[in-house]
Amino acid sequence: MGKIIVCGNVKGGVGKSTLSCNLAVQASSSGKRVLLIDADPQGSSLSFRAVRALDDITAMAITSATLHRDLRNIATAYDLVFVDVGGRDGDVFRSAIMSCDLLLIPVLPSQYDIWAAEDTIRVLREARAFRDLTARFVLNQIVTNSIVAREALEAVAGFSGDATLMKSSLHQYMDFKKSISLGQGVGEFNADGKASREVAELYTELMSIIDPQVSEQPVVEQSADTMAETEVHHD
Ligand SMILES: Nc1ncnc2c1ncn2[C@@H]1O[C@H](COP(=O)(O)OP(=O)(O)OP(=O)(O)O)[C@@H](O)[C@H]1O
Ligand SMILES: [Mg+2]
Repeated sequence: MGKIIVCGNVKGGVGKSTLSCNLAVQASSSGKRVLLIDADPQGSSLSFRAVRALDDITAMAITSATLHRDLRNIATAYDLVFVDVGGRDGDVFRSAIMSCDLLLIPVLPSQYDIWAAEDTIRVLREARAFRDLTARFVLNQIVTNSIVAREALEAVAGFSGDATLMKSSLHQYMDFKKSISLGQGVGEFNADGKASREVAELYTELMSIIDPQVSEQPVVEQSADTMAETEVHHD
């Protein structure tokens, strides 16, 4: 039975599709059998697969609230399943997280964007009435050469009872935009780029959470205080 990771946030434009596609590529290049489910009628992940030259990733659309039933059967043929779930339909989102091993919630690093995760957290809490579910926030599109505002980290910490923050995060790089339209992961587009390194780190951290026995190094959770003090330099 493959592990199922849902990239979901009720809020739009936070990087759900970008993360789903890049993590799928990262997993495939690590030798995993990968399924990419597009649960968003916008079809961004399916479009990514359509322009991808390699046939290493299977992609399919499931935009109905039967995901929790469908995925359990389909996932048996894969090692990892990534689900890109659009926010608008609460039923589909609820159905997706009822089946998953991990809910990854991309958020933009501003206090207001993180507060907007409240709706996502509400659905998560409803799902947890029925089953245990691991959930993590990941900061996406951090402006390069900047530090994440303390207010944003405090806003994330405000949800720590529901979902903690991944140590890995993604900065804003053109590689993400350019590679998607070519059907490539950032590592395929620019192997030496910082975006490539960050996706690899995020993938490794995710694997350490969902499959701890294969993880080489324990991941130390980062507190709001330590992150706020970490200055990040990127091109
Ligand atoms: N780390 C990043 N650096 C630069 N651009 C990014 C990054 N992450 C996402 N983007 C860009 O931000 C936009 C929104 O990203 P994406 O489509 O992945 O979000 P989404 O949450 O799937 O949106 P939607 O709710 O519309 O499905 C896209 O143009 C994408 O290329
Ligand atoms: Mg999308």
